[in-house]
Amino acid sequence: MDQNELKQQVGQEAVKYIEDGMTVGLGTGSTVRYMVDALGKRVQEEQLNIVGVTTSNRTTKQAQDLGITIKNIDEVDHIDLTIDGADEVDDNFQGIKGGGGALLWEKIVAINSSKIMWIVDESKMVHQLGKFPLPVEVIPFGSAHVFHELQQKGYNPEFRMTNDTKFLTDQKNYIIDLQLNRIGDPFGLADDLVKMVGVVEHGFFLNMVNTVIVGRESGPEVLHG
Ligand code: A5P
Repeated sequence: MDQNELKQQVGQEAVKYIEDGMTVGLGTGSTVRYMVDALGKRVQEEQLNIVGVTTSNRTTKQAQDLGITIKNIDEVDHIDLTIDGADEVDDNFQGIKGGGGALLWEKIVAINSSKIMWIVDESKMVHQLGKFPLPVEVIPFGSAHVFHELQQKGYNPEFRMTNDTKFLTDQKNYIIDLQLNRIGDPFGLADDLVKMVGVVEHGFFLNMVNTVIVGRESGPEVLHG
């Protein structure tokens, strides 16, 4: 099975956890795309009555095209389950997200959810976080100075680019990726980053996830945190 087939496998597995009447957080990314496709199929075939709360404009568009009812996060009083992808998940169920640039809305939806499930192909499972660059969302105003400070701290920052222009998130912020390779103390680094003025969020999702479904050649493996 190639990586896309593994992503599809976990996407299809995850929608089995969605029950009639639920409000469901819908993540962002190539794995979630398969999950939303599978959810759209259930909605059409079973007349499943669910409300989706999305984490990006991309997911909103896909879900609405498939006939899934979408509400803004501020229109719902709770989210039962959020299903999202991840870029890295370590042995302690700590993760890095934001490879697709949706980390801010993803984190807001996640922290307002009763349960969080990540769906990943097996390449995302790591012993230590850091090989995947840690995304940091910053407001554009003064971002060159934030960048410089990150450089001074030895965090190897790089502005995320789209061709020749800086990548813009749905919230119209920039992303600075930190190439750290090995992160010994994610909690310490997370604390350091949130204290920096101009930083809106970072891609660490720590002590958040309840269930991880890992796509493997032998079939989906369901891990509980
Ligand atoms: C989006 O910003 C990310 O957090 C994604 O959830 C994460 O990058 C996983 O994406 P893929 O499923 O495309 O690997």
